[in-house]
Amino acid sequence: MQIELTEKDFSNFSKLIYDKCGINLHNGKRELLKARLATILRKSDFTSVKDYYRYLTEKASDQEIIPLLNTAKQGIYDKDRVGKIPYQLQRAYFKKGIRKWQGFYRVKPELQKVIKFERFNLMDPFPSNHTFDVVFLRNVMIYFDKPTQEKLVNKCYDIIERDGYFFIGHSESLTGVKHKFKYIEPSVYRK
Ligand SMILES: C[S@@+](CC[C@H](N)C(=O)[O-])C[C@H]1O[C@@H](n2cnc3c(N)ncnc32)[C@H](O)[C@@H]1O
Repeated sequence: MQIELTEKDFSNFSKLIYDKCGINLHNGKRELLKARLATILRKSDFTSVKDYYRYLTEKASDQEIIPLLNTAKQGIYDKDRVGKIPYQLQRAYFKKGIRKWQGFYRVKPELQKVIKFERFNLMDPFPSNHTFDVVFLRNVMIYFDKPTQEKLVNKCYDIIERDGYFFIGHSESLTGVKHKFKYIEPSVYRK
């Protein structure tokens, strides 16, 4: 399917992607963007790139995220995933499924009660009334350019409690990013 992507469309999409995702689509990525958009349009009811852009900017894509959040809230995991958790913690926080739930585990209500799943765009300002003991930001920075990574890491620093921890992915590092964390070991930092 051939689609039309005008100069204006390209600049609209690059700006949107940079603002929302911190990913810089320079002109060399034009064909890539065009191919991705063609795939999306083919599989959907959008009639043009402009139509899709309007959808993204005018309607939040909550339809896609809400089912994912609801699945997460249920707290049901298959036994292969729970098997990696130390046995004492498994017993304390998970209930083993029976009958049709055999092979699955459910997070116990005591733990479920204190967990909140929310949609959050890392490019948005962080809540100023909330601090965290630990932040896991694993395998997410790969998408962002250095200035965006630096801003993000420093936003994380600001919301972490003193002596709190900051975890990044095993294959990531903060090299080239100016930050105030203490390095503890690969992927682990502390405020
Ligand atoms: C490679 S996955 C890593 C997921 C998980 N942290 C892990 O280590 O398994 C990258 C995730 O980053 C999320 N992501 C990318 N840009 C984001 C943004 N601007 N705000 C929030 N999440 C973002 C994607 O939706 C995706 O779920």
